[in-house]
Amino acid sequence: MKKALFFLVIGSVLLAACGSSQATEAIPTVPAEYAGKTSPLGADAATAGEKVFQTNCASCHGPQGHGDGPAGAALDPKPRNLSSFAPGVADDYLFWRISTGVPDTAMPPWAGVLTDEQIWQAIAFVRTLKP
Ligand code: HEC
Repeated sequence: MKKALFFLVIGSVLLAACGSSQATEAIPTVPAEYAGKTSPLGADAATAGEKVFQTNCASCHGPQGHGDGPAGAALDPKPRNLSSFAPGVADDYLFWRISTGVPDTAMPPWAGVLTDEQIWQAIAFVRTLKP
């Protein structure tokens, strides 16, 4: 009986630990090829970026980047809420992820579909999103 209780307690501790590691999910390191890249464009690129975003990204990420686009509803993992995610990462991270996509998720690679300039424009727009 005591043994069963012991395993029950250990089991709940392990479960709790798994839950919390998901909340503080590690951000992967930007590969050398992309590390340190900064936008060649100014903040005014957000105007063009809004068009790029609404055409290519909003279906999944939602018009205001809240991760609530109609095409994203059934996805697992869900599209990121970019308004809350982007402030925590640098431009080189965003440029890398948007260019190459996120493996094992529905996030497609955009290099070759969009030009580098269009990707930087989209990033400028993402930087204006409000949670
Ligand atoms: C087909 C749906 C879909 C489209 C279209 C899409 N995304 Fe995503 N995106 C996702 C999903 C799903 C994730 C979540 C990946 C994850 O959880 O790691 C994601 C994640 C991201 C991330 C976070 C990357 C990370 O490390 O988690 C960024 C930034 C992003 N998308 C930007 C964009 C931009 C900009 C566009 C348009 C050029 C776009 N996405 C178009 C589905 C989409």
